[in-house]
Amino acid sequence: MKLFLDTADIEEIRTVHRWGVLDGVTTNPTLFAKTTGMSYDEVLKHICGITSGPVSAEVVADDVEGMLAEGRHFAKLADNIVVKVPMSERGLEAISRFKAEGIKTNCTLIFTANQGLLAAKAGASLLSPFVGRVDDINEEGMTVVRELVEIIRFYEIDSEVLTASVRHPRHVTEAALAGSHVATLPFKVFSQMVHHPLTDKGIVQFKRDWEAARAAAAESAAPGSREPARA
Ligand code: E4P
Repeated sequence: MKLFLDTADIEEIRTVHRWGVLDGVTTNPTLFAKTTGMSYDEVLKHICGITSGPVSAEVVADDVEGMLAEGRHFAKLADNIVVKVPMSERGLEAISRFKAEGIKTNCTLIFTANQGLLAAKAGASLLSPFVGRVDDINEEGMTVVRELVEIIRFYEIDSEVLTASVRHPRHVTEAALAGSHVATLPFKVFSQMVHHPLTDKGIVQFKRDWEAARAAAAESAAPGSREPARA
């Protein structure tokens, strides 16, 4: 499963890219609003300079022509831009016109398998079901991921399921087990995936044992070079 970073924060993107595990980035207006000092275009260009994977840039226009104008503009910023279009009747029309122009799209705000199926038929390359926001209202967000993956596989549709609105590491495991092609994660979840208390404890213990062994070796090579332990 490919792992995207769900952020517009350049430092977070640089960090995960250095780990060698970054396959792409998703942004949205809310994530951009958390950045300071740069326009959305500048942020996108910076991100595309860090990763060659897909970078989603979201349109905000309500009408088809407005979505097309914004998306065409984003697509000219870098080769790896994917235009993110919200699920709606106008959004579907924009997705199908972007497809005809050879511009890749990510259909966002998907909450049912039927919405995902429509987006795939319109020509979206990425389908983004939001799991966390469904869990937040006491329903099972991962159900849509499972259903959509099954439909895409069954009909051999040329779109990828991108599990979005990920809140914790368990969502990542469940998305991978469901066969989701991609999951997009906040930096915090990437970091949580790295750590385990027994891993962190083990690293400290190995280091301590290594240093004790080196000290013992130095002592036997040059006896008396160390202060004897006091009783
Ligand atoms: C990604 O493409 C989505 O915009 C994002 O995952 C939404 O996450 P949220 O529900 O935490 O805002």
